[in-house]
Amino acid sequence: MVKSTSLLATLPSDLERDRLPRHVAVIMDGNGRWAKQQGMPRVMGHRRGVDSLRDLLRCCKDWGIPALTAYAFSTENWGRPSHEVDFLMTLFEQVLRRELAEMMAENVRIRFVGNLDALPPSLQAEISRSMNDTKNNQDVEFTVATNYGGRQEIIQACRAIAQKVQQGQISLDQIDENLFEQHLYTSGLSNPDLLIRTSGEMRISNFLLWQMAYSEIYVTQTAWPDFDREAFHQALLNYQTRDRRFGKVKN
Ligand code: IPE
Ligand code: IPE
Ligand code: MG
Repeated sequence: MVKSTSLLATLPSDLERDRLPRHVAVIMDGNGRWAKQQGMPRVMGHRRGVDSLRDLLRCCKDWGIPALTAYAFSTENWGRPSHEVDFLMTLFEQVLRRELAEMMAENVRIRFVGNLDALPPSLQAEISRSMNDTKNNQDVEFTVATNYGGRQEIIQACRAIAQKVQQGQISLDQIDENLFEQHLYTSGLSNPDLLIRTSGEMRISNFLLWQMAYSEIYVTQTAWPDFDREAFHQALLNYQTRDRRFGKVKN
């Protein structure tokens, strides 16, 4: 489905290129409510949501934003009805298989973060393949959080570090923010400058708890399946009005 605003192929002139976020994170929320409003089953919202994500990824490439991280499935989302969970797992696998060639063509590197071992084996296989095939691509660093929970990520980092201490590989005083970050799933990735949440909820729902310490938060009422380039343009315009102080005062 081609969206009307897909004409925004180049960076809109009211955005300042040198003040764009370098890393955008997105909580893709509201698929179920969107579908219900259209009189469709919730899962149809997930299907339509894939189109929004595909276009946002292309938009990041077109507008020169080098990193995008999307929240696809949380550790808490296992609590949904099993038919919805099964639908999502199958959808992820189908989309990955279908979009791999396009990601290669667009020079996108895809990476998955989360507790991937608990995903269906066939999905794990597609994940490994896509990460491996795209590992040298450099235009956009695309991270998909799947079976991801911020608390779980922090716990697994603690365990990995504790094990190294126990085995004498590192000493207690070597544990600092830098070392801790190296044990997170997002190791090597910059922290998000901007978090976008669609569909109105003012919460972070266990997403990137450590990494978002100083992210700018933008919440839009627009549901994820309706989030298009114009909606992203509005988010970026809003971002460019922010005064990022990082706890300091102005000179
Ligand atoms: C977000 O949409 C997608 C996932 C969590 C997988 P929802 O499914 O949460 O949609 P709402 O919030 O119920 O409308
Ligand atoms: C957050 O949305 C998770 C994803 C978008 C994958 P939820 O719909 O699960 O969050 P809550 O339940 O509204 O906090
Ligand atoms: Mg939701």
